Amino acid sequence: MKKLLMPYISEGLKLKNHLVMAPMTRSRAIDNLPNELMAEYYGQRSGAGLIITEGTAPAPEALGYARIPGIFSNAQVEGWKAVTSAVHKNNTKIFLQLMHTGRVGHQDNLPAGVALVGVSDIPAAGQIHTDTAGMQNHSTPKALDTQGVLNVIDGYVSAAKNAIAAGFDGVELHAANGYLIEQFLNPNVNNRTDTYGGSIENRTRFALEVAQRVADAIGKDRVGMRISPNSTLGDLQAYDAETVEETYIHLSRELNRIGIAYIHISINPQVPQQTLAAVRTEFEGTLIYCNTFTAEKAEAELNGGDADLIAFGRPFLANPDLEQRIANGTELNAPDFTTLYTPGAKGYTDYPILFNS
Ligand SMILES: Cc1cc2nc3c(=O)[nH]c(=O)nc-3n(C[C@H](O)[C@H](O)[C@H](O)COP(=O)(O)O)c2cc1C
Repeated sequence: MKKLLMPYISEGLKLKNHLVMAPMTRSRAIDNLPNELMAEYYGQRSGAGLIITEGTAPAPEALGYARIPGIFSNAQVEGWKAVTSAVHKNNTKIFLQLMHTGRVGHQDNLPAGVALVGVSDIPAAGQIHTDTAGMQNHSTPKALDTQGVLNVIDGYVSAAKNAIAAGFDGVELHAANGYLIEQFLNPNVNNRTDTYGGSIENRTRFALEVAQRVADAIGKDRVGMRISPNSTLGDLQAYDAETVEETYIHLSRELNRIGIAYIHISINPQVPQQTLAAVRTEFEGTLIYCNTFTAEKAEAELNGGDADLIAFGRPFLANPDLEQRIANGTELNAPDFTTLYTPGAKGYTDYPILFNS
């Protein structure tokens, strides 16, 4: 039997298999509320051992994209309960991805009276969809002052507590793909002169304080972090490879000290093998790899590489029964790229299912 489909047991994480559904924003949360359609979507994909939800806002100013869900109101907590119970029926674990979009956003996507914030006031180049006026330039963020940073950390803590109240098994802190935590890590966007900017210790301070405070609040086994070293998503400009590596060595070492359950790496072609190896050396917990894996590549990685679990994004999006298709060697449906972020069931819950779980 494939290792991918066999149970995974570690100190903090017990999963029915090694197959993880990667976090994917699908923009079906009308009014930023999780709903029955989302419960159906996640329930359909509960062949995974672990599902990581789409990026979810810990606070109102984190709602940079249209129709992404939040976890800061009672109604959102109630909405998520339908999702967690649909997934738990099939003995699947589910972590909520906490995504603070920071400067990647537009004022029109935020609730009235809420301002876009960032590590600095440097706007992201490029455009973002708004339901009100189509594609628009990213808004210019307001730079968080030091008290503002502490307030955002408090927001993560209460969001994580809300996630547990909604039935999640844990939370994944999104420190990848150019959103707020990675904005703090990147010295080209982080031009701060307080204790959250400058040295590697200072640039990683926000990520580590969020991780420590959330772990203290809900338990370290219930916390993961997603990173993407060398990524330039969200208009993050590359910086020198040696500093990148030192940044992630420090981050992984300190996350290991905090003792979180896992680090999840979104691997892009720019990451040197050496940087990946360094994270593995520093971090003793579960390591998840993601990006462009096939079942075959995943199997090879699990048997001979550094990763403990493999996450699949687009294959899960288009194949609710991915686990069974892998077990049976069945061909996969291709994703429909025109319906990735459109509201409604089309291209969301209507992908062909060949096997019932
Ligand atoms: C529609 C879509 C939405 C995504 N949204 C998120 C997200 O909310 N959070 C995140 O960390 N990554 C997000 N990603 C990235 C995926 O988690 C994953 O890294 C990417 O799809 C590559 O893996 P794959 O080759 O298995 O698809 C998204 C990807 C897709 C296709």
